[in-house]
Amino acid sequence: MQKLAPLKLGILGSGKGSNFKAIAEAIEEGRLNAEVRIVLSDVEDAGILDYARARGLRAEFLAPGRFRTKLEPEAEARLVALLQEAQVELVVLAGYMRMIKAPMLEAFPRRIVNIHPSLLPKFPGLASWKQALEGGATVTGCTVHYVDGGMDTGPILAQSEVPVLPGDTAESLHARIQVAEHALYPAVLARLAAAR
Ligand code: GAR
Repeated sequence: MQKLAPLKLGILGSGKGSNFKAIAEAIEEGRLNAEVRIVLSDVEDAGILDYARARGLRAEFLAPGRFRTKLEPEAEARLVALLQEAQVELVVLAGYMRMIKAPMLEAFPRRIVNIHPSLLPKFPGLASWKQALEGGATVTGCTVHYVDGGMDTGPILAQSEVPVLPGDTAESLHARIQVAEHALYPAVLARLAAAR
């Protein structure tokens, strides 16, 4: 049987990039048949850009414009152009902290995935691990889902449960959720790459 070509990924992130690191390692170790074509961030000094550059990958800062929760329309159009020029087949949000709007959703229909640090539909939005802790949850976790126009609302691909332990702080709980994220995200991407 002929081997499928690697799935061409475009990564978007605003933070330190530990999920991206887990994805890059899965590719290097042959667990994920994919290729990172470009890494983009709305935060100029985000760790995810440093990490991508250190691996010799194309990594660029995308000036977001004047809004806090989404890109300015011109910036989103540029984002679409950069991803298309890089021939990206699947857009992977890895700690990207802005809403995705129509130009992206129209350019990449059912081709954008996200990881969220809760068992959606519980605790959408920001700092979901704090929401879980403050809400008295005994179990939380993480979710990989397709992105639609809502906030953390698209069809769910997979979830992983993480117990909330007595004495957990927001930091200790988020750290444990991240361990689960680093296993779940590459595994789901590998499934998508194999199912083409
Ligand atoms: C992750 O925990 C991810 O689930 C979360 O940001 C963190 C990024 O960490 N994303 C969201 O909250 C999106 N709404 P990383 O930069 O180390 O991958």
